[in-house]
Amino acid sequence: MREKPNIQNVSAFLIRKLLVKVGKMWFNICQGLHLTAGQMDINLKGVSELTSLASSIQNFHFDNVLMNASGVHCMTTQELDELYASPAGSFVTKSGTPNARVGNPEPRYHQLELGSINSMGLPNNGIDYYLDYALDFQAKHPDHPIFLSVSGMSPSDYTLLAEKIQASDFNGLTEFNLSCPNVPGKPQIAYDFDTTEQILTDLFKIFTKPAGVKLPPFFDLAQFDQMAALLNRFPLTFINSINSLGNGLMIDPATDTALIRPKGGFGGIGGAYAKPIALANVRAFRQRLRDDIAIIGTGGVTTGRDVYDLILCGADMVQLGTVLQVEGVACFDRLNHELEAVMAEKGYTTLDDFRGKLQTIQ
Ligand SMILES: Cc1cc2nc3c(=O)[nH]c(=O)nc-3n(C[C@H](O)[C@H](O)[C@H](O)COP(=O)(O)O)c2cc1C
Repeated sequence: MREKPNIQNVSAFLIRKLLVKVGKMWFNICQGLHLTAGQMDINLKGVSELTSLASSIQNFHFDNVLMNASGVHCMTTQELDELYASPAGSFVTKSGTPNARVGNPEPRYHQLELGSINSMGLPNNGIDYYLDYALDFQAKHPDHPIFLSVSGMSPSDYTLLAEKIQASDFNGLTEFNLSCPNVPGKPQIAYDFDTTEQILTDLFKIFTKPAGVKLPPFFDLAQFDQMAALLNRFPLTFINSINSLGNGLMIDPATDTALIRPKGGFGGIGGAYAKPIALANVRAFRQRLRDDIAIIGTGGVTTGRDVYDLILCGADMVQLGTVLQVEGVACFDRLNHELEAVMAEKGYTTLDDFRGKLQTIQ
């Protein structure tokens, strides 16, 4: 429910707008004076101080909206520590399975002109490794909530994983990955609505902590209707949409050979190729899910405008996969600045000013 306008709200809004205008005027004056990058940075910081990129999922608060996507820069405790030390608002672990896995044979990841193809096959250090890290982390940083991603190799694994996390002291958010496209012989679970329903029914009999599901991309409006109706029946805290576009294929023109080895070259597609599909999935679920189910928008981010667009479609947090793989943790700072610049241009100072407010042509 939106707050009713009152004198305090209106004055706070007008003051904020005025400050942004002053910030922008100062920015323009400095541009006119051809100040150096260092001097400009001082001005950008001036604008930044007026802008908040903070976001929340229920009572979990994050300094900014950006985080890694599971599978990228989160395999080891060292990488997870690097994410904490970066300007990311939060982070998620690699999807942990009941036992550690080596994954598929290499080459299993390839950079493409507009993104990436991968068939990693869920290599990971196992749930115990990531749960131990998360428990240790929350003891040291109680004010920095994080996400634990887990993935079953069969429907019954999800109950097993849920039991383990439920029995632990973990007090962050758990992301149940129902959408890995890259394990040979295993389908993407959430494309099977009956199995998804069974998994969630069993899971929520025992799991009472904040939980979400990572979904594969859907392409048909009837699928959005059915999946949202199903998800709305469970006490989910969030969904994460989307995982890679499953089973693409790319070819090396010099050798006429598929670019990656596993599964005859079939692999999940991420990066700019995924943007329109990610936007559509976030938007379609925002229009159909209960208001209290938050949405993490993932897929296709390479610029601050991409982050803005996912939020415009309704995202509460935004995850970075391929762009983080390509640029490393430096991309958090770049994208936060680019997002601030788009917001400043439009006179917005908080994400709520535009979240979910996509215009359509009537
Ligand atoms: C190398 C690699 C490994 C991934 N591993 C996982 C994983 O373990 N769990 C998961 O939920 N998603 C995994 N993903 C999917 C990403 O989290 C993300 O959903 C997808 O790449 C789309 O985002 P992007 O367009 O920013 O790359 C992986 C993606 C890549 C590129």
